[in-house]
Amino acid sequence: MSLRIGVLKETPSGEKRVAIVPADLKVLKALGAEIVIEADAGAASTYTDSAYEAAGATMAKTREELLATCPVALFVSPETGLKGPGRSDQLFVGMGDALSKPGPHEALAKGGASIIALELLPRITRAQSMDVLSSMATLLGYRGVLLAAEALPRVFPLMMTAAGTLAPARVLIMGVGVAGLSAIATSKRLGASVLAYDVRAAAKEQVASLGAKFLEIEVDSSEAEGTGGYAKAVSEDFLARQRAAMLKAVSESDVVIATAGVPGKKAPILVTRAMVEAMRPGSVVVDLMAEYGGNCEVTKAGATESVGAVSVLGPTHVVSSLGAHASQMFSRNILNFLKLIVKKGELVLDMEDEIVRDVLVARGGAVVQPRVREALGLASVTMASGTLE
Ligand code: NAI
Repeated sequence: MSLRIGVLKETPSGEKRVAIVPADLKVLKALGAEIVIEADAGAASTYTDSAYEAAGATMAKTREELLATCPVALFVSPETGLKGPGRSDQLFVGMGDALSKPGPHEALAKGGASIIALELLPRITRAQSMDVLSSMATLLGYRGVLLAAEALPRVFPLMMTAAGTLAPARVLIMGVGVAGLSAIATSKRLGASVLAYDVRAAAKEQVASLGAKFLEIEVDSSEAEGTGGYAKAVSEDFLARQRAAMLKAVSESDVVIATAGVPGKKAPILVTRAMVEAMRPGSVVVDLMAEYGGNCEVTKAGATESVGAVSVLGPTHVVSSLGAHASQMFSRNILNFLKLIVKKGELVLDMEDEIVRDVLVARGGAVVQPRVREALGLASVTMASGTLE
Protein backbone atom coordinates (compact mmCIF):
# COMPACT_ATOMS: atom_id res chain seq x y z
CA MET A 1 0.00 0.00 0.00
CA SER A 2 1.24 3.48 -0.70
CA LEU A 3 1.72 6.16 1.93
CA ARG A 4 -1.01 8.79 1.81
CA ILE A 5 0.52 12.27 1.99
CA GLY A 6 -1.96 15.14 2.31
CA VAL A 7 -1.41 18.74 1.25
CA LEU A 8 -3.35 21.21 3.41
CA LYS A 9 -4.99 24.34 2.11
CA GLU A 10 -3.31 27.26 3.88
CA THR A 11 -5.57 29.02 6.37
CA PRO A 12 -4.05 32.47 7.25
CA SER A 13 -5.52 35.34 5.29
CA GLY A 14 -2.95 36.66 2.82
CA GLU A 15 -1.14 33.30 2.64
CA LYS A 16 -1.00 32.35 -1.03
CA ARG A 17 1.49 29.53 -0.99
CA VAL A 18 0.90 25.79 -1.18
CA ALA A 19 3.28 23.07 0.02
CA ILE A 20 3.38 20.94 -3.14
CA VAL A 21 2.95 21.97 -6.78
CA PRO A 22 1.59 19.60 -9.46
CA ALA A 23 4.96 19.28 -11.22
CA ASP A 24 6.46 17.49 -8.20
CA LEU A 25 3.77 14.82 -7.94
CA LYS A 26 5.52 12.43 -10.30
CA VAL A 27 8.58 12.09 -8.07
CA LEU A 28 6.45 11.73 -4.95
CA LYS A 29 4.55 8.91 -6.57
CA ALA A 30 7.81 7.24 -7.49
CA LEU A 31 8.63 7.25 -3.76
CA GLY A 32 5.51 5.17 -3.21
CA ALA A 33 3.31 8.00 -2.01
CA GLU A 34 -0.28 8.79 -2.89
CA ILE A 35 -0.90 12.52 -2.82
CA VAL A 36 -4.15 13.90 -1.45
CA ILE A 37 -4.86 17.59 -2.04
CA GLU A 38 -7.36 19.60 -0.01
CA ALA A 39 -9.76 21.29 -2.44
CA ASP A 40 -8.53 24.69 -3.65
CA ALA A 41 -5.18 24.29 -1.87
CA GLY A 42 -3.24 25.70 -4.82
CA ALA A 43 -5.84 28.12 -6.15
CA ALA A 44 -4.22 31.25 -4.66
CA SER A 45 -0.85 30.32 -6.14
CA THR A 46 -2.16 29.56 -9.66
CA TYR A 47 -2.22 25.77 -9.25
CA THR A 48 -5.76 24.53 -9.93
CA ASP A 49 -7.43 21.41 -8.58
CA SER A 50 -7.66 20.10 -12.12
CA ALA A 51 -3.89 20.53 -12.57
CA TYR A 52 -3.31 18.40 -9.45
CA GLU A 53 -5.82 15.82 -10.65
CA ALA A 54 -4.18 15.71 -14.06
CA ALA A 55 -0.87 15.04 -12.28
CA GLY A 56 -2.46 12.10 -10.47
CA ALA A 57 -3.55 13.54 -7.10
CA THR A 58 -6.62 12.46 -5.16
CA MET A 59 -8.77 15.34 -3.92
CA ALA A 60 -10.22 15.77 -0.42
CA LYS A 61 -13.16 18.14 0.00
CA THR A 62 -12.20 19.34 3.48
CA ARG A 63 -9.29 19.44 5.91
CA GLU A 64 -11.12 16.95 8.16
CA GLU A 65 -11.54 14.50 5.31
CA LEU A 66 -7.85 14.83 4.43
CA LEU A 67 -6.58 14.43 7.99
CA ALA A 68 -8.84 11.42 8.59
CA THR A 69 -7.07 9.40 5.91
CA CYS A 70 -3.52 10.81 5.64
CA PRO A 71 -0.77 9.86 8.10
CA VAL A 72 1.40 12.66 6.69
CA ALA A 73 0.17 16.24 6.21
CA LEU A 74 2.22 18.98 4.52
CA PHE A 75 1.83 22.70 5.06
CA VAL A 76 3.64 26.00 4.52
CA SER A 77 2.63 28.21 7.46
CA PRO A 78 2.58 27.09 11.11
CA GLU A 79 -0.92 28.49 11.55
CA THR A 80 -2.13 26.00 8.95
CA GLY A 81 -0.20 22.97 10.08
CA LEU A 82 -0.15 23.18 13.85
CA LYS A 83 -3.76 23.60 14.75
CA GLY A 84 -4.48 19.89 14.82
CA PRO A 85 -6.27 17.78 15.58
CA GLY A 86 -3.45 15.28 15.51
CA ARG A 87 -3.29 11.58 16.17
CA SER A 88 -0.35 9.51 17.30
CA ASP A 89 -0.03 7.97 13.84
CA GLN A 90 0.23 11.37 12.21
CA LEU A 91 3.18 13.47 11.04
CA PHE A 92 2.91 17.17 10.19
CA VAL A 93 5.69 18.62 8.00
CA GLY A 94 6.20 22.29 7.17
CA MET A 95 7.60 25.58 8.47
CA GLY A 96 6.93 25.69 12.17
CA ASP A 97 8.34 28.91 13.63
CA ALA A 98 9.27 26.47 16.37
CA LEU A 99 11.88 28.60 18.16
CA SER A 100 9.91 31.85 18.30
CA LYS A 101 6.45 30.28 18.73
CA PRO A 102 6.89 26.88 20.39
CA GLY A 103 3.46 26.91 22.11
CA PRO A 104 1.42 25.37 19.26
CA HIS A 105 4.03 22.62 18.92
CA GLU A 106 3.64 21.65 22.55
CA ALA A 107 -0.15 21.64 22.25
CA LEU A 108 -0.19 19.50 19.11
CA ALA A 109 2.49 17.18 20.51
CA LYS A 110 0.32 16.45 23.55
CA GLY A 111 -2.26 14.88 21.23
CA GLY A 112 0.46 12.45 20.14
CA ALA A 113 1.21 13.77 16.65
CA SER A 114 4.76 14.07 15.33
CA ILE A 115 5.95 17.40 13.93
CA ILE A 116 8.78 18.27 11.58
CA ALA A 117 9.75 21.95 11.36
CA LEU A 118 11.88 22.55 8.29
CA GLU A 119 13.28 25.89 9.43
CA LEU A 120 15.43 23.90 11.87
CA LEU A 121 17.42 22.16 9.12
CA PRO A 122 21.16 22.13 9.82
CA ARG A 123 23.15 24.32 7.43
CA ILE A 124 25.11 21.54 5.85
CA THR A 125 25.65 20.95 2.15
CA ARG A 126 23.37 17.88 2.07
CA ALA A 127 20.46 19.94 3.44
CA GLN A 128 20.78 22.81 0.97
CA SER A 129 18.26 21.38 -1.48
CA MET A 130 15.70 21.24 1.37
CA ASP A 131 16.40 24.70 2.76
CA VAL A 132 13.02 26.43 2.77
CA LEU A 133 14.36 29.44 4.66
CA SER A 134 16.92 30.17 1.93
CA SER A 135 14.29 29.76 -0.79
CA MET A 136 11.90 32.15 0.87
CA ALA A 137 14.68 34.61 1.73
CA THR A 138 15.80 34.70 -1.91
CA LEU A 139 12.33 35.81 -2.97
CA LEU A 140 12.00 38.17 0.00
CA GLY A 141 15.10 40.15 -0.97
CA TYR A 142 14.05 40.34 -4.61
CA ARG A 143 10.54 41.51 -3.84
CA GLY A 144 11.73 44.00 -1.22
CA VAL A 145 13.77 45.84 -3.84
CA LEU A 146 10.82 46.00 -6.22
CA LEU A 147 8.67 47.47 -3.44
CA ALA A 148 11.33 50.12 -2.86
CA ALA A 149 11.66 50.91 -6.57
CA GLU A 150 7.91 51.31 -6.79
CA ALA A 151 7.73 53.69 -3.83
CA LEU A 152 10.82 55.77 -4.73
CA PRO A 153 10.15 58.99 -6.69
CA ARG A 154 13.49 58.48 -8.46
CA VAL A 155 14.81 55.86 -10.90
CA PHE A 156 17.21 53.07 -9.94
CA PRO A 157 19.58 53.09 -12.96
CA LEU A 158 21.82 55.81 -14.28
CA MET A 159 19.95 57.39 -17.19
CA MET A 160 21.78 59.68 -19.57
CA THR A 161 19.08 61.39 -21.57
CA ALA A 162 18.62 64.44 -23.79
CA ALA A 163 16.92 65.97 -20.77
CA GLY A 164 19.99 65.49 -18.65
CA THR A 165 21.50 62.80 -16.49
CA LEU A 166 19.59 60.97 -13.77
CA ALA A 167 21.89 59.66 -11.07
CA PRO A 168 21.53 56.03 -10.01
CA ALA A 169 19.70 55.36 -6.75
CA ARG A 170 21.92 54.79 -3.73
CA VAL A 171 20.75 51.64 -2.00
CA LEU A 172 21.89 50.47 1.41
CA ILE A 173 21.25 46.84 2.29
CA MET A 174 21.38 45.99 5.98
CA GLY A 175 21.90 42.33 6.81
CA VAL A 176 23.59 40.24 4.15
CA GLY A 177 22.14 36.80 4.68
CA VAL A 178 20.31 35.09 1.85
CA ALA A 179 17.64 37.83 1.62
CA GLY A 180 20.25 40.60 1.69
CA LEU A 181 22.34 38.95 -1.04
CA SER A 182 19.24 38.60 -3.19
CA ALA A 183 18.39 42.27 -2.55
CA ILE A 184 21.92 43.29 -3.59
CA ALA A 185 21.71 41.25 -6.80
CA THR A 186 18.28 42.67 -7.65
CA SER A 187 19.34 46.26 -6.94
CA LYS A 188 22.44 45.81 -9.09
CA ARG A 189 20.35 44.40 -11.95
CA LEU A 190 18.20 47.52 -11.76
CA GLY A 191 21.33 49.65 -11.98
CA ALA A 192 21.52 51.08 -8.47
CA SER A 193 24.71 51.92 -6.65
CA VAL A 194 24.73 49.46 -3.73
CA LEU A 195 26.30 49.56 -0.30
CA ALA A 196 25.75 46.68 2.11
CA TYR A 197 26.41 45.96 5.74
CA ASP A 198 26.42 42.93 8.01
CA VAL A 199 27.90 42.20 11.42
CA ARG A 200 29.47 39.02 10.12
CA ALA A 201 32.85 39.75 8.58
CA ALA A 202 32.37 36.79 6.21
CA ALA A 203 29.63 38.73 4.43
CA LYS A 204 32.17 41.21 3.07
CA GLU A 205 33.51 38.86 0.43
CA GLN A 206 30.01 37.87 -0.74
CA VAL A 207 29.04 41.54 -1.07
CA ALA A 208 32.12 42.22 -3.19
CA SER A 209 31.42 39.21 -5.40
CA LEU A 210 28.05 40.76 -6.32
CA GLY A 211 29.73 44.02 -7.29
CA ALA A 212 28.50 46.01 -4.31
CA LYS A 213 30.50 47.94 -1.71
CA PHE A 214 30.76 46.78 1.90
CA LEU A 215 30.12 49.39 4.55
CA GLU A 216 33.01 49.27 7.02
CA ILE A 217 32.10 50.14 10.58
CA GLU A 218 34.88 50.43 13.09
CA VAL A 219 33.40 48.28 15.83
CA ASP A 220 34.51 44.87 17.00
CA SER A 221 32.33 42.40 15.10
CA SER A 222 33.84 39.21 16.53
CA GLU A 223 31.05 38.87 19.07
CA ALA A 224 28.46 38.54 16.27
CA GLU A 225 29.69 35.27 14.83
CA GLY A 226 27.61 32.35 16.04
CA THR A 227 28.07 28.65 15.46
CA GLY A 228 26.60 26.51 12.69
CA GLY A 229 26.41 29.30 10.11
CA TYR A 230 23.68 31.22 11.96
CA ALA A 231 24.11 34.72 13.33
CA LYS A 232 23.87 35.08 17.10
CA ALA A 233 22.30 37.86 19.12
CA VAL A 234 24.69 40.71 19.96
CA SER A 235 24.77 42.98 23.02
CA GLU A 236 22.87 46.26 23.39
CA ASP A 237 26.17 48.12 23.74
CA PHE A 238 27.38 46.73 20.43
CA LEU A 239 24.11 47.73 18.75
CA ALA A 240 24.36 51.29 20.13
CA ARG A 241 27.90 51.76 18.71
CA GLN A 242 26.75 50.33 15.43
CA ARG A 243 23.80 52.73 15.22
CA ALA A 244 26.05 55.76 15.73
CA ALA A 245 28.25 54.67 12.85
CA MET A 246 25.24 53.93 10.70
CA LEU A 247 23.66 57.40 10.80
CA LYS A 248 25.86 58.81 8.05
CA ALA A 249 25.39 55.87 5.71
CA VAL A 250 21.61 55.95 6.07
CA SER A 251 21.35 59.69 5.58
CA GLU A 252 23.26 59.38 2.30
CA SER A 253 21.01 56.64 0.91
CA ASP A 254 17.86 56.94 -1.20
CA VAL A 255 16.76 53.46 -0.25
CA VAL A 256 17.41 51.28 2.78
CA ILE A 257 16.44 47.61 2.61
CA ALA A 258 16.65 45.95 6.02
CA THR A 259 16.93 42.16 6.29
CA ALA A 260 18.90 41.63 9.51
CA GLY A 261 17.63 38.75 11.57
CA VAL A 262 18.72 36.28 14.20
CA PRO A 263 16.81 32.96 14.03
CA GLY A 264 14.11 32.64 16.66
CA LYS A 265 14.79 36.11 18.08
CA LYS A 266 13.22 39.52 17.66
CA ALA A 267 14.97 41.48 14.88
CA PRO A 268 17.61 43.99 16.07
CA ILE A 269 16.85 47.71 15.66
CA LEU A 270 19.43 49.06 13.21
CA VAL A 271 17.61 52.09 11.80
CA THR A 272 16.46 54.59 14.40
CA ARG A 273 13.89 57.34 13.96
CA ALA A 274 16.75 59.89 13.99
CA MET A 275 18.37 58.12 11.03
CA VAL A 276 15.11 58.16 9.09
CA GLU A 277 14.70 61.86 9.87
CA ALA A 278 18.18 62.44 8.42
CA MET A 279 17.25 60.95 5.03
CA ARG A 280 16.44 63.13 2.05
CA PRO A 281 12.78 63.81 1.16
CA GLY A 282 11.33 61.01 -0.94
CA SER A 283 13.69 58.35 0.44
CA VAL A 284 12.33 54.91 1.20
CA VAL A 285 13.02 52.33 3.89
CA VAL A 286 11.74 48.80 3.24
CA ASP A 287 11.83 46.81 6.45
CA LEU A 288 11.67 43.16 5.47
CA MET A 289 11.86 42.15 9.11
CA ALA A 290 8.51 43.85 9.88
CA GLU A 291 6.92 40.53 10.80
CA TYR A 292 9.71 39.88 13.33
CA GLY A 293 9.53 43.23 15.10
CA GLY A 294 11.37 45.21 12.42
CA ASN A 295 14.93 46.52 11.92
CA CYS A 296 13.64 50.10 11.93
CA GLU A 297 12.28 51.86 14.98
CA VAL A 298 9.52 53.45 12.91
CA THR A 299 8.23 50.29 11.21
CA LYS A 300 4.64 49.19 11.61
CA ALA A 301 3.98 45.70 10.28
CA GLY A 302 1.54 45.76 7.40
CA ALA A 303 1.65 49.56 7.00
CA THR A 304 3.62 52.41 5.45
CA GLU A 305 4.68 55.08 7.93
CA SER A 306 5.71 58.60 6.92
CA VAL A 307 8.50 60.47 8.71
CA GLY A 308 8.46 63.88 7.09
CA ALA A 309 8.73 63.00 3.40
CA VAL A 310 10.42 59.65 4.00
CA SER A 311 8.38 56.45 3.67
CA VAL A 312 8.98 53.43 5.90
CA LEU A 313 7.37 50.30 4.50
CA GLY A 314 6.68 47.37 6.80
CA PRO A 315 5.36 44.83 4.30
CA THR A 316 3.96 41.48 5.43
CA HIS A 317 3.26 38.36 3.37
CA VAL A 318 5.98 39.54 0.97
CA VAL A 319 7.04 36.09 -0.19
CA SER A 320 3.45 34.93 -0.36
CA SER A 321 2.76 37.64 -2.93
CA LEU A 322 5.00 35.61 -5.27
CA GLY A 323 2.76 32.60 -4.66
CA ALA A 324 3.50 30.68 -7.84
CA HIS A 325 7.29 30.69 -7.54
CA ALA A 326 7.35 30.62 -3.74
CA SER A 327 5.26 27.45 -3.87
CA GLN A 328 7.43 25.97 -6.60
CA MET A 329 10.56 26.45 -4.48
CA PHE A 330 8.92 25.30 -1.25
CA SER A 331 7.56 22.23 -3.02
CA ARG A 332 10.97 21.23 -4.35
CA ASN A 333 12.53 21.71 -0.90
CA ILE A 334 9.91 19.63 0.89
CA LEU A 335 10.08 17.00 -1.84
CA ASN A 336 13.84 16.68 -1.32
CA PHE A 337 13.23 16.29 2.40
CA LEU A 338 10.55 13.64 1.83
CA LYS A 339 13.02 11.66 -0.26
CA LEU A 340 14.97 11.29 2.97
CA ILE A 341 12.12 9.93 5.11
CA VAL A 342 9.89 8.05 2.64
CA LYS A 343 11.33 4.73 1.53
CA LYS A 344 9.27 2.46 -0.73
CA GLY A 345 5.98 3.90 0.49
CA GLU A 346 6.98 3.68 4.18
CA LEU A 347 7.79 6.49 6.57
CA VAL A 348 11.26 5.95 8.07
CA LEU A 349 12.72 8.50 10.49
CA ASP A 350 16.41 7.68 10.84
CA MET A 351 17.48 9.31 14.10
CA GLU A 352 21.13 8.71 13.23
CA ASP A 353 20.72 11.31 10.50
CA GLU A 354 21.46 14.80 11.81
CA ILE A 355 18.97 16.33 9.38
CA VAL A 356 16.11 14.24 10.76
CA ARG A 357 17.26 14.77 14.34
CA ASP A 358 17.39 18.56 13.98
CA VAL A 359 13.97 19.02 12.36
CA LEU A 360 11.96 16.53 14.44
CA VAL A 361 10.21 18.75 16.98
CA ALA A 362 7.65 16.37 18.47
CA ARG A 363 7.32 12.62 18.73
CA GLY A 364 5.44 10.20 20.99
CA GLY A 365 3.43 12.83 22.85
CA ALA A 366 6.30 15.19 23.69
CA VAL A 367 8.47 17.95 22.27
CA VAL A 368 11.85 16.28 21.69
CA GLN A 369 13.91 18.91 19.85
CA PRO A 370 16.45 20.35 22.34
CA ARG A 371 16.33 23.96 21.09
CA VAL A 372 12.53 23.96 21.07
CA ARG A 373 12.44 22.38 24.56
CA GLU A 374 14.74 25.16 25.72
CA ALA A 375 12.43 27.77 24.15
CA LEU A 376 9.57 26.21 26.12
CA GLY A 377 11.61 26.20 29.34
CA LEU A 378 11.56 22.40 29.50
CA ALA A 379 14.36 20.21 30.83
CA SER A 380 16.49 18.53 28.19
CA VAL A 381 15.82 14.90 27.28
CA THR A 382 18.01 12.27 25.68
CA MET A 383 16.93 11.74 22.10
CA ALA A 384 16.11 8.22 21.02
CA SER A 385 18.62 6.81 18.60
CA GLY A 386 18.03 4.24 15.89
CA THR A 387 15.20 4.20 13.42
CA LEU A 388 11.62 5.17 14.21
CA GLU A 389 8.90 3.85 11.91
P1 NAI B 1 19.34 35.57 8.69
O1 NAI B 1 18.07 35.67 7.96
O2 NAI B 1 19.38 34.79 9.94
O3 NAI B 1 19.90 37.02 9.03
C1 NAI B 1 20.14 37.93 8.00
C2 NAI B 1 21.47 38.59 8.18
O4 NAI B 1 21.35 39.58 9.19
C3 NAI B 1 22.63 37.68 8.61
O5 NAI B 1 23.64 37.75 7.65
C4 NAI B 1 23.08 38.27 9.94
O6 NAI B 1 24.48 38.22 10.12
C5 NAI B 1 22.61 39.69 9.80
N1 NAI B 1 22.49 40.39 11.10
C6 NAI B 1 22.01 39.94 12.28
N2 NAI B 1 22.09 40.90 13.22
C7 NAI B 1 22.65 41.99 12.63
C8 NAI B 1 23.00 43.28 13.06
N3 NAI B 1 22.81 43.66 14.33
N4 NAI B 1 23.56 44.13 12.15
C9 NAI B 1 23.77 43.76 10.87
N5 NAI B 1 23.45 42.54 10.41
C10 NAI B 1 22.91 41.67 11.26
O7 NAI B 1 20.51 35.08 7.71
P2 NAI B 1 20.51 33.90 6.66
O8 NAI B 1 19.86 34.31 5.42
O9 NAI B 1 19.99 32.73 7.35
O10 NAI B 1 22.07 33.72 6.32
C11 NAI B 1 23.09 33.70 7.30
C12 NAI B 1 24.34 33.03 6.72
O11 NAI B 1 24.17 31.64 6.51
C13 NAI B 1 24.76 33.58 5.35
O12 NAI B 1 26.15 33.67 5.29
C14 NAI B 1 24.30 32.53 4.38
O13 NAI B 1 25.02 32.55 3.17
C15 NAI B 1 24.55 31.29 5.20
N6 NAI B 1 23.75 30.16 4.75
C16 NAI B 1 24.33 28.92 4.64
C17 NAI B 1 23.60 27.82 4.22
C18 NAI B 1 24.24 26.49 4.09
O14 NAI B 1 25.42 26.37 4.25
N7 NAI B 1 23.50 25.44 3.85
C19 NAI B 1 22.16 27.93 3.90
C20 NAI B 1 21.65 29.29 4.06
C21 NAI B 1 22.42 30.34 4.48
